Amino acid sequence: MKLNILIINKFSEEFFNLFNDKEQLEDLIEINSFTFEKSNTLFVPKSYSSDNQHYLLVGSQSCDSASQWVKLGAIVGKSLLKDYVIDITDLTEHADIENFVFGLLISQYSFNHYKSDAIEHISISINENKYSKEVKDMISAIFWARDMVNHPSLTKSPTFFVNEVIDFIKDTEIQLTSYDQKWLKDNNFGGILGVGSGSDREPKLLIGEYNKNAEIQIAVIGKGVLFDSGGLSLKSPSGMETMKSDMAGAATAWGVIKLVAEQKLNIGVKVYTPLVENMPSGSAIRPGDVLTLRNNKTIEVLNTDAEGRLIMADALAYASEFKPTVICDIATLTGSAYVALGLDIGAFFTNSKDISKKFFESNNNSYEKFHELPLFDDYKKLIKSDIADMQNTGGRFGGAITAALLLEEFVDNTDWFHLDIAGPGRSRDIDPIYSKGGTGFGLKGMYNFIKSYL
Ligand code: BES
Ligand code: MN
Ligand code: ZN
Repeated sequence: MKLNILIINKFSEEFFNLFNDKEQLEDLIEINSFTFEKSNTLFVPKSYSSDNQHYLLVGSQSCDSASQWVKLGAIVGKSLLKDYVIDITDLTEHADIENFVFGLLISQYSFNHYKSDAIEHISISINENKYSKEVKDMISAIFWARDMVNHPSLTKSPTFFVNEVIDFIKDTEIQLTSYDQKWLKDNNFGGILGVGSGSDREPKLLIGEYNKNAEIQIAVIGKGVLFDSGGLSLKSPSGMETMKSDMAGAATAWGVIKLVAEQKLNIGVKVYTPLVENMPSGSAIRPGDVLTLRNNKTIEVLNTDAEGRLIMADALAYASEFKPTVICDIATLTGSAYVALGLDIGAFFTNSKDISKKFFESNNNSYEKFHELPLFDDYKKLIKSDIADMQNTGGRFGGAITAALLLEEFVDNTDWFHLDIAGPGRSRDIDPIYSKGGTGFGLKGMYNFIKSYL
C-alpha cells in the first residue's frame, strides 16, 4: 500500500491544499487529538486527500537534533503495521530526513531465525531519492551485526563466525585472512590461546584489510568471545544467560569495515577479531596461571572471567606492529562500565587528547551516546602482579578503568581509543531504536570517527 508521510509543525495553506475539505480534516485532527508536537502521528485515509492517496501526518515540533530525528523516525516506523511503499514530504522545510529515514529503517529489525512458525514480516520501502546509499548500507551493516550477536553460541563457533564474515564481505575489496591455532602458537599469541584452551572449538584470529595503500591507516580490534562462561572462574547461571553476546565488538568491527569499503572511502581500515570460546574444562587455564602475550609481556590470570582483555591485548599488540595512524577497539569488556554509566552509554577511553576531540566532534549529536572515562595512571598499581608484569584483575572498584589501563600496555604508544560497550552492546528492553538483543552499538560511532579523517 502506498503511504505519504507528511512531516509538519504547523497548519499552512500548502497543507490544507493536499486535502479535499478543510473542515472535514480539522474534525479528524480534533477527534484524534493530533498535535504538532513530535511523536504525534495521524493516519489520514485517501478519501480525504485531493490526490486520492493515504497520508500519515507526523508532528515534528521540538524535534531539533539528529538523535531526535532518528528517534522520531523509529517511533513512526514502529507504528507501521502493514506493508508500505513510502514517500516523504517535509512541510517544515528543515526536517532532517536522512536521520528520520535512518530511524524508520532501524525500527524494522527483527530476528526470527530460530522461530518455527512462519513470521509475518512487514516490508517497508522508502522512495530512494529521500535518503543516501550510506544510510542504507549502514542499516544493513547494523542488522548484520545484530544477527551475529543474536545467534546462539551452539551455532556460533569460530568457524561459523569466519564463514559468516566471508559471506558478508564477498562483494567488497576487503582481503581476509583467518589464522588458526597452530599459527597463533607459532606466533606467540598467549592470550588468545590461553582463553581458548578450555574449549573444544579452536580459537582463531580473523583479519580483514581494506585499502592498504591509503595514507591514513586505521586498525579496528573487536572482542570476539563467542561464549563467555567465565571459564574456571565460572559465572553464575543468570550471569551466563546472555553471554552469547560477548562478541558484539567483533561483529561491529566487521560492520564498520564493510561500510567503509562500500562507500569506497580513501582510508585504510584493518580489522582484527580474536575469536574464542571461554569455557571451563580440564584443559582450561587456571587462576594463577601466567600467560606470555604477543609482545612478550606477561599476565597473571587471577580470574579467568576477565578474559576479554587477554585476547584484546594480543590483538592490540599485533596491530601496533604495523604502525597504524590510530588503533580503535570495541569490546563488551566489563560490567563496571555499565555500573558507572548505565546501559545506554558507551565508555570511551583514549591515550590522546586529539583523538578524544576528534571522536566526540565526529559523534556530536548522534543517537549513540558515549562518555569519556579516565586512564588514571595511579590505578596501574591495582593491576601489578607479584610474579608477572601485570595481573588481569584490579579489584572491585574502577573495573572498567583498570581493564582499559591493561589494554593501554599493549598499544606501544600508538594513538588509541577503547570503547567498552558491555552495557549498550545488548538491549534489555524493547525500544523503537533497539529491539531486545544485539544493538550494533558503536558501529556508527566508529564510522563517523573514521570518516573524520577524510
Ligand atoms: N564479558 C564480560 C563483561 C560483561 C558483563 C559484558 C556483563 C556484558 C554484560 C567480561 O568478560 C567479564 O566477565 N568481566 C568481568 C571482569 C572481572 C572478573 C574482573 C566483570 O566485569 O565482572
Ligand atoms: Mn568474562
Ligand atoms: Zn567476556
